[in-house]
Amino acid sequence: MNKYFITCPRGLEQVTANDINQYLEKKYKIDKGGVAFEASQDAMYRINLYSRTGMYVLKELCSFNASNDKTLYKICKNFKWSKLIDVNQTFSLKSKINSSFFKNSNFTTLKIKDAIVDSIKNELGDRPSIDKHNPDVRIFIMINHSKVKLYLDTTGKPLFRRGYRTKIHKAALNETMAAGLVLLSDWNKKDDFYDIMCGSGTIAIEAALIAYNIPPGILRDFYAFQKFSDYNPTLWKSILEEAKKNINFDNPVQINGSDLIKKNIHLALDSIGKLNLEDKIRFSVKDFNDFSPRNKKGTIIINPPYGERIGEQFNLNQLYKKLGDKFKTDCAGHDVFVFTGNLSLIKKIGLRSKRKIILKNGTIDCRLVYYPIQSGSFQ
Ligand SMILES: C[S@@+](CC[C@H](N)C(=O)[O-])C[C@H]1O[C@@H](n2cnc3c(N)ncnc32)[C@H](O)[C@@H]1O
Repeated sequence: MNKYFITCPRGLEQVTANDINQYLEKKYKIDKGGVAFEASQDAMYRINLYSRTGMYVLKELCSFNASNDKTLYKICKNFKWSKLIDVNQTFSLKSKINSSFFKNSNFTTLKIKDAIVDSIKNELGDRPSIDKHNPDVRIFIMINHSKVKLYLDTTGKPLFRRGYRTKIHKAALNETMAAGLVLLSDWNKKDDFYDIMCGSGTIAIEAALIAYNIPPGILRDFYAFQKFSDYNPTLWKSILEEAKKNINFDNPVQINGSDLIKKNIHLALDSIGKLNLEDKIRFSVKDFNDFSPRNKKGTIIINPPYGERIGEQFNLNQLYKKLGDKFKTDCAGHDVFVFTGNLSLIKKIGLRSKRKIILKNGTIDCRLVYYPIQSGSFQ
């Protein structure tokens, strides 16, 4: 068993923990921006393949206290880096530093880089190079006050890069966040699912991956752990085969996405083509004002424009008011969730919410607001 930390968007820590818990033998620990856990190699491979809301799965290399550069350099240099990084390999460093002892994070990162390079040079007589874009080995540094933790990235490209997108809608949601919204909604994977402002379809696509038990990493062809010296290709192959066998298309659920703009629907269709889900999600061009649900029950999750990347062209106050009217008049029996980064626009919806979940979309403070719509009960 090794110690790991899986990073995720702020606000999705508990969802991430619940999602990976089935692969763990011991209790996880939630932290800001991720979840710490212990896992076998088998579980680490599975978490990379199956985590819907994680970004990077990081293997803890060492953990120590330091409150000045000299101690930091000395302890880092004493670590056996030559076992991890060969002189012919490249590496990169990524850091998250929140410490009054290490105020200049660029300088601190450089110090640790020097310690790694000097350690390898002492051991092997030569040094590896830095490659910021496509390194063989990625080291993550996390410093909180005097607590320093160094991690080895087992993931590579972040897990949100599922590989189904061709071109990107300029306000597209990160896949990890979209999956997080679906998981937070507690959708039962049976009742109809709608995103009636779907843009490039991310939320509906993630809902389909969940409903059919398709691992989010299904299209991915590489993880960083495949370059590790202890990589077990037989084990990895069997995990992949098992994952493919467990995909279940018997679920008769209806998943729908619609958007006002045709170009966006083309992006969504391109993506589901890559996933072979053409007959599993119905995408169409439609104004939400013309929407009415097909059945008496269902879940609607939307991410309306909120003026950050798009939205300036829409009259947002009007748009949010009309959304509230639509839910009130046509969506009784449905669980409606609105994800937005504009907190004052939420009020324009004019319905009483049952829950507001705080989430960070990059640097934007967002809310997922839950409106259970019951006929006659709204104000
Ligand atoms: C923030 S984007 C959604 C992005 C989407 N979640 C994704 O991942 O690609 C908001 C979307 O609302 C759509 N929209 C704006 N007004 C609309 C309307 N009246 N009816 C349907 N869609 C609308 C826009 O075209 C835009 O694609």
